[in-house]
Amino acid sequence: MSKFEKSEWAEDKHAKEFMENADIYILERKRLFEILKSFYTHFLGEKANQRPIKVLDLGCGDGALTRELLKKDPKIKATLIDGSAEMLNNARKQLESYEGFIFIQKTFQELLEDESKGNDIIADEFDFVISSLAIHHLHTKEKEDLFGYIHEHLNSGGFFLNIETVKAPTDELESWYRVLWGEWIQKNQINMGVQESFEYLPEQYKNNPDNHPDTLNIQLNALKSVGFQQVDCYYKYGIFAIFGGEKYG
Ligand SMILES: C[S@@+](CC[C@H](N)C(=O)[O-])C[C@H]1O[C@@H](n2cnc3c(N)ncnc32)[C@H](O)[C@@H]1O
Repeated sequence: MSKFEKSEWAEDKHAKEFMENADIYILERKRLFEILKSFYTHFLGEKANQRPIKVLDLGCGDGALTRELLKKDPKIKATLIDGSAEMLNNARKQLESYEGFIFIQKTFQELLEDESKGNDIIADEFDFVISSLAIHHLHTKEKEDLFGYIHEHLNSGGFFLNIETVKAPTDELESWYRVLWGEWIQKNQINMGVQESFEYLPEQYKNNPDNHPDTLNIQLNALKSVGFQQVDCYYKYGIFAIFGGEKYG
């Protein structure tokens, strides 16, 4: 079983570094956010006219995804979960003006363990479960279990959207995707006028024992196997992908 406590995310300094620099090195981060918002408007916009949409942000970090959704719909009610106290405190600070938001410091492993013991702390059902760059820290079976957990916590007609790094189907493609990522970082650093270089990151990502990305196919199949419909990859650029599905009935 993967252990959050032993991962770099349990260290405050790693969390801080991500919050400060993610816009520089997360490939097309702005576009990923734009696609998330387009998805929300298209699939949940009508529902949002009738009542506040309930959102669950898994591995929320400092709440970046929830804050993006708030730009589209300031009436959402969000529950944010992260294993890192540092990250969650930042999310709390950034979102303090919104009433009724819930912040929970739990790892995904703890969520699954609690549920298996009948102590599920999330009594709610959600309309939209979102996650970004967090679930690839789980092993394959844990991912599938978490997808099942997400499915159970969605209302009928609710959606799951996951922004994630995925493993390429071949080593050759994986190497090229890392080159692509490095090229993008290089260009983005110039555009943003950044002095510090993050071009080492794609290689570091590959060698990091905390990362357990699975291929897109494995994850799309896992989503289908726990009952999701409309499962697809909605966007992909190298190893960065957006995929998810809908809960029917
Ligand atoms: C790369 S950051 C992404 C944060 C945010 N979603 C974003 O896109 O800005 C990954 C986040 O996932 C959290 N995380 C990683 N593994 C986790 C686990 N097993 N359980 C809960 N949170 C986890 C980390 O603490 C961190 O906040």
